[in-house]
Order: sequence, then structure tokens, then C-alpha cells
Amino acid sequence: MAILKIARMGHPVLRSRAQEVPDPTVPDIKYLVRDMIETMDDAPGTGLAAPQVHIPLRVVVFRVGGHRTTGAPDDQAEPLTVLINPILEPQGEEMALDWEGCLSVPGMMGAVPRFTRLRYRGFTPDGEVIDRTVSGFHARVVQHECDHLDGILYPQRIKDMRLFGFVEEMKKGMERPHERKPEPEID
Ligand code: NI
Repeated sequence: MAILKIARMGHPVLRSRAQEVPDPTVPDIKYLVRDMIETMDDAPGTGLAAPQVHIPLRVVVFRVGGHRTTGAPDDQAEPLTVLINPILEPQGEEMALDWEGCLSVPGMMGAVPRFTRLRYRGFTPDGEVIDRTVSGFHARVVQHECDHLDGILYPQRIKDMRLFGFVEEMKKGMERPHERKPEPEID
């Protein structure tokens, strides 16, 4: 077990497209996933993508905490998902704005538009297929994490840069876009 060093914005590994995992079931992937989960929980963070720990492979881990979900059938808490070689298919055009942060962009937060509904597929380290259609916070987390696999960090998705800044400053009275205290936590 190991807590891995997290790459920060600007590092080349965060700007490149990560490679497909040829065989999700090999032991090396299990070891990587184990360390990614430990690193995510130590941070702590909602999710982590392999490029964030300097490994350019298409692997993400995430937990969907119940406090940010709506409880709708497709937006429920998800204790832990390990997703390898994910494919994302937004369902419809609808997008929503909400706060995000990222372990690779420490101390910052921003309001990011994301597709509201999403189908995603991929594999677990046991070779099992994951095929889910989700919405809300769950859909947001998956889009954020999988962006990391394509060299995209959330600031690149922000349309209104006034809604991007240091967490400590943003919390001073600014409650847009949802008229509540910002609480970024995607990673
Ligand atoms: Ni992130």
C-alpha cells in the first residue's frame, strides 16, 4: 500500500491523453487501483484518475457521497467505483452548473457546466462490465474524472471565469450558482 504523489496542473501527464489498459485484470492494475484508492481517501477526495498519480492509463476511482446526490434512482450514493477504459455517452443536451475542485488544482474551485444525464461503460479490475446511466452529481463526478484521461482539467470547462478562484476567497459571500455555500469536492 502506498500514498502516491499527486501531479498538479501544468504537469505534462495531466495534459496528455492516457492510454487504454490492454488487460484490466492483470495484477499491476490491481496494485495501482489499491494505491489510488488509498491516495484518494488520504487526500481526501471524491475521485482520482491515474494520470493524477503520474500513471498515463485510463483508470479512475471515485466515491459518490450521499450528501451531494438527489436520491433519484439514477443519482444515488455509490460507495466505490473502479472504472477502467471508460466510454461516456451524454444523454441529451441538458447541462447544469455546479462547483468543482480538483486535487491537481489545490486551493481552487470553479463552477463547471456538465451534462446532466450520462451513460458510462467500462470494466472493473475483475473484468466485469460496468454499464450505468446516471444523472446529477454522479454524472458530474464521472465526467470530471474521465476528463483527466483526455488531458482536460475542470478550469478548461469553465465558461464564466468570474466563477473560478481560490476556495477561501470564493466562500466570502458568493453563493452563486446555486445560492448556497460553495463546497467543491470532485478531484
Ligand atoms: Ni480532478
